[in-house]
Amino acid sequence: MAEDKNLDAFKETHEEVKIDAGRKIRIGFIGCGWIAESHIKSLLKQPDVEIVAGCDLIPGKAKKFFEKNGVEGVKTDYADHKEMLADKSLRLDAVTICTYNRQHAGPAIESLNAGLHVLLEKPFTVTTEEAVEVMRAEKKSGKILSIGFQPRFDNNMIMVKDIVQSGELGKVYYIQTGGGRRRGIPTPFGTTFIENETAGLGALADIGCYSLDMVLNAIGYPKPLTVSGYKSDFFGKDPNYCGYPKAKRAEYAEKFGVDDFAAAFIRLEGGVVISFRIAWAMNLDTSGDTIIYGTKGSMRIPSTECWNGSIGGDLTIYHEVAGKQVETKIPQIIPKASAPSNFDKKIRSFLDAIKNGGTAPVPTSQILYNQAILDGIARSSDLGREVEIEIPEI
Ligand SMILES: NC(=O)c1ccc[n+]([C@@H]2O[C@H](COP(=O)([O-])OP(=O)(O)OC[C@H]3O[C@@H](n4cnc5c(N)ncnc54)[C@H](O)[C@@H]3O)[C@@H](O)[C@H]2O)c1
Repeated sequence: MAEDKNLDAFKETHEEVKIDAGRKIRIGFIGCGWIAESHIKSLLKQPDVEIVAGCDLIPGKAKKFFEKNGVEGVKTDYADHKEMLADKSLRLDAVTICTYNRQHAGPAIESLNAGLHVLLEKPFTVTTEEAVEVMRAEKKSGKILSIGFQPRFDNNMIMVKDIVQSGELGKVYYIQTGGGRRRGIPTPFGTTFIENETAGLGALADIGCYSLDMVLNAIGYPKPLTVSGYKSDFFGKDPNYCGYPKAKRAEYAEKFGVDDFAAAFIRLEGGVVISFRIAWAMNLDTSGDTIIYGTKGSMRIPSTECWNGSIGGDLTIYHEVAGKQVETKIPQIIPKASAPSNFDKKIRSFLDAIKNGGTAPVPTSQILYNQAILDGIARSSDLGREVEIEIPEI
């Protein structure tokens, strides 16, 4: 009986929201690669969306993408996003930007300048300067700009935040976070994740941004002050790395221009420090759990073996009850099969913000700090010393 109650208490709550299907949001795609597949699948489930245009730098790719996904009547004859944004006959309301990292800032700024709402894939940008420029365009436009962090919508992540914000842990003063994959350099669809010209940052930004968001969001996104960072590329640069398709091994190792491992010590306003490490590849099963140390209690968040922004099991709180040191388990929330995925929630929350005149579900004001830390780690690693994090006025 007690177990049932437990399950009831933590079962997923999903409110049915009425969607006004009569008022359609006209959407265009910028970038029609791998992650665009998840965007289109999610958007096609929404009754109030009309996908009207799409573009990709690779000629013919956008057309094939919409054909493959069975969406007809989409205009795709554009050389790049600028041509698409200039086509006023489309009467676009919003764009979803699914381009590689180095092509986040430019298309986001130009879309906002064209008066469109923007859903921008993660990481926010590559550098802090780019993020600041995007935010200036956002401010000027008054449009919604949301960053594609779907783990935010995981009920377990919401639980982590609720526990921290409830004060149950007391003052949080130290956090260890991060994650890793034993062998997981992402090259299944080409090299855009591993080339400096397209990605700019590797594991650090790709999956590191999720680890940082999990804990920064839980503690209310304090401003980062300093970072001492390190990054390396031992696996990516190795022509014998097992993950490279055999025939192209040498070419991929040569093209590898980002990090496959990063670590850092980060100081935040309010006297909180974070110890962080992230790996696309390592000789280890996991980089370890995320642990939030507090004066009244600490919380262990088990890592998944292949870090992807979800949690790997029940949460444990270590605290004192009636003078005894005890552990309290908070059961992992397993979503019902019928529940919308975190990706669907990220898409829906963006559409709802547009329709209801709300604020961005994953706001740039927070993710700017995430970006500044990633950028700080890269700079600190290059300089071989701790760096201050300076963020210009928006
Ligand atoms: N949220 C997630 O779960 C998730 C998962 C995978 C990737 N991503 C992010 O999505 C982004 C794209 O990743 P991907 O795996 O789809 O890469 P990809 O290389 O498969 O696709 C990117 C596409 O964008 C096109 N492109 C680049 N600049 C363009 C421009 N200015 N105009 C039009 N097209 C342009 C490229 O030609 C390419 O086809 C990355 O930033 C990545 O971090 C997010």
